[in-house]
Amino acid sequence: MTPGTRTAIVTGAARGIGLAVSERLIADGWTIAACDMLEDRLREEAARLGDSYRPYRLDVTSENDVNTVCERIAEENPPVLGLVNNAGVTRDSLLMRMDAEAWDLVLKVNLTGAFLMTKAVSRQMMRRRAGSIVNLSSVVALVGSAGQANYAASKGGLIGFTKSLARELASRNIRVNAIAPGFIETEMTLSLPEEVRKGYAERIPLGRMGKPSDIAEVTAFLLGDASSYVNGIVIPVDGGLST
Ligand SMILES: NC(=O)c1ccc[n+]([C@@H]2O[C@H](COP(=O)([O-])OP(=O)(O)OC[C@H]3O[C@@H](n4cnc5c(N)ncnc54)[C@H](O)[C@@H]3O)[C@@H](O)[C@H]2O)c1
Repeated sequence: MTPGTRTAIVTGAARGIGLAVSERLIADGWTIAACDMLEDRLREEAARLGDSYRPYRLDVTSENDVNTVCERIAEENPPVLGLVNNAGVTRDSLLMRMDAEAWDLVLKVNLTGAFLMTKAVSRQMMRRRAGSIVNLSSVVALVGSAGQANYAASKGGLIGFTKSLARELASRNIRVNAIAPGFIETEMTLSLPEEVRKGYAERIPLGRMGKPSDIAEVTAFLLGDASSYVNGIVIPVDGGLST
């Protein structure tokens, strides 16, 4: 594919892993439709990254937002051939202290958000008979995590979602894969207490936390043509934490 002639939609693209993924994909020649609720951060990054990073304010939990904005993106930046479902939140607590609100919010953003985005974007991909979708799951979907039952359930759900759609959309030449990041240095993990972060880092065979760029490299592989026969898999990118 000629550089500059294809667009990928990245959710949660204003910071952290989503931002690193956007930067890495731009280096591969993708135009990025950068979707997030953090309008100021989107604007700042757009000023820094230039015309290949196109900001769109979007809440992945709003079906109306998702459908309207995805249509706009398709009109303004055709062809849309990539989707990275990266937007995610945590609301950690032990089960006995977890209220239904924290459960619902995490499921809604992490899982329903990916469903709404994928439905809207794969409609466009089906017409073109081409596309690649990458879902950001988590190592906790594979091994569990005390205090994160809601988050682990949402990320486990994404794996079933990924494998089902890999079967369903393959006949239209749309591939669907997932990445299960381990413990990555972003604002999401920086908000954890220092001793929790240290405890995690000590359990990682490679002896260090991951960087957003570690995830971005694998996302670029799964989104691009080099992985054209890879479909329905989950790649842990966790320094060996889940082995
Ligand atoms: N950091 C880690 O260690 C780690 C590990 C495993 C998986 N992940 C997953 O990777 C993804 C990115 O994580 P991160 O560490 O960069 O987190 P982050 O909190 O730094 O970034 C998440 C982004 O998603 C956006 N977002 C949240 N709710 C949204 C919504 N409703 N609509 C649109 N955007 C929304 C936020 O504004 C933010 O910009 C998440 O899905 C996360 O669960 C992260």
